[in-house]
Amino acid sequence: MKPRWRSAVYAAILATITGGCGNSSGTDAVTASRQPKGDPVRGEQLYQQCAACHSLASNATGPKHCQLIGRQAGSLPDFDFSPAMRESGLIWDAQTLDEFLTSPISYVSGTRMGFAGFSDAEDRADVIAYLYQVNEDPATCPAG
Ligand code: HEC
Repeated sequence: MKPRWRSAVYAAILATITGGCGNSSGTDAVTASRQPKGDPVRGEQLYQQCAACHSLASNATGPKHCQLIGRQAGSLPDFDFSPAMRESGLIWDAQTLDEFLTSPISYVSGTRMGFAGFSDAEDRADVIAYLYQVNEDPATCPAG
């Protein structure tokens, strides 16, 4: 009886520890995940706000968004980035995009991106899910 009782306690402790680790970053699970759980269909609608300045396959007022995931911030050779963006040292993924899109000017102080940000975590998760979906889709983002 004793060993079984013990292992149940250990299992409960383990569950507490692993649960605690999962939340250690202090952000919610959706936004902290490397694989965003957002809705890319809703994200495509929200992307219309980005499309005032951005397009997927070519530079406009803002840099193109194809092949964004895994890209070093400010690294496209044919776009005139701010020094702040070029020197930010960021690599774009679900986490950095979530933080940037919360408030671009606070996250990259001195950025030229004139967009206030999305205060709603779900809006950010959805637009990030869309950016992941199109990132390497040959239909929207042909290589090169
Ligand atoms: C008013 C114009 C404007 C809007 C709207 C806008 N952006 Fe931008 N964005 C820019 C500009 C300009 C830059 C370059 C910033 C710099 O160099 O500091 C940029 C840069 C970026 C970058 C960095 C890209 C890289 O290669 O490093 C990302 C990511 C980005 N924007 C995402 C978005 C998303 C997602 C939205 C919509 C939610 C959005 N932007 C809305 C103008 C805009």
